[in-house]
Amino acid sequence: MSTITPFPTSAPFLALNDVSVGFGPENKRVNVLENTNLEVKENEFVAIIGFSGSGKSTLVSLLAGLQRPTTGTVTMAGEIVTRPGPRRGVMFQSYSLLPWLSVYRNIELAVKQVFPKKSKVELREHIEHYIEMVHLTPARDKKPHELSGGMRQRVSLARTLSMQPEVLLLDEPLSALDALNRAVLQDEILQIWEQQKKTVVIITNDVDEAILMADRIIPLTMGPRANLDTAFPVGLERPRDRRTLTENPEYKFLKTEITSYLVGMNRTANESRDSRIVTMPEVSPRDFNPVSKNDRSVRSR
Ligand SMILES: Nc1ncnc2c1ncn2[C@@H]1O[C@H](COP(=O)(O)OP(=O)(O)OP(=O)(O)O)[C@@H](O)[C@H]1O
Ligand SMILES: [Mg+2]
Repeated sequence: MSTITPFPTSAPFLALNDVSVGFGPENKRVNVLENTNLEVKENEFVAIIGFSGSGKSTLVSLLAGLQRPTTGTVTMAGEIVTRPGPRRGVMFQSYSLLPWLSVYRNIELAVKQVFPKKSKVELREHIEHYIEMVHLTPARDKKPHELSGGMRQRVSLARTLSMQPEVLLLDEPLSALDALNRAVLQDEILQIWEQQKKTVVIITNDVDEAILMADRIIPLTMGPRANLDTAFPVGLERPRDRRTLTENPEYKFLKTEITSYLVGMNRTANESRDSRIVTMPEVSPRDFNPVSKNDRSVRSR
């Protein structure tokens, strides 16, 4: 009988090891991420926060195995990640739903790949459970173009959750939602994480969301050559109650710390942009001769 050895809890479950990644031809390449390191423990909930264009989605693609690092390695449970796989579920920022399929069919396509042995009835129950979780039962048979942005985002979240991966990689999963839906789905994600012992990496630009949900908040520095900076640990007791959280002194402290950090990073980036010395090309007019009659007629046409 084979026995499964649990992964040692002290070792990183998911890691970026000195990862650099750049796009384009080698002679023109600028690294988006440079010498980036990340260690996520099993069952940990990590939030990554950073400015637009700094490389957050690139980081998610690396962790998912969709993007290969230029140098360095990505590892999960000690093994090098070389391709996407069902153990890591990724929710894309762009939703990436198939436009010709309904909400139900979009989710079905993913579920069938991961659970090919489910019977028809099991499959239907499974899919409907996740559609209900994101409150889209009335829109079950609608196509993506018939849904709002927030509804599409919810389908995409349901699809990722329905595959029940060990690791959830969520790229700004709730950014298009109104406050009410956002709060409901934050709770759903937290519940799934707690009950089903998932490992979560969530990208967010919302400091409150990060504090409410995460064990650690890691800032990504401004790109290019972005890097993950020192994490802010969130020691707040769980379950966290959003109604009383804002009164909690630790919450207030963290919010101020993280916001000041982000404001400081933005200011530094602006200053370095302003103080950059720009060398103008040496240009001189070729010819100062008055324009001839013929030329004038051509130009005025
Ligand atoms: N496939 C690609 N080819 C070329 N450049 C790319 C590619 N993917 C990303 N980039 C560049 O890498 C940088 C980081 O992009 P990325 O999408 O990771 O940023 P982000 O932090 O997720 O931004 P946002 O907050 O707007 O989603 C950008 O300058 C982007 O133009
Ligand atoms: Mg992004």
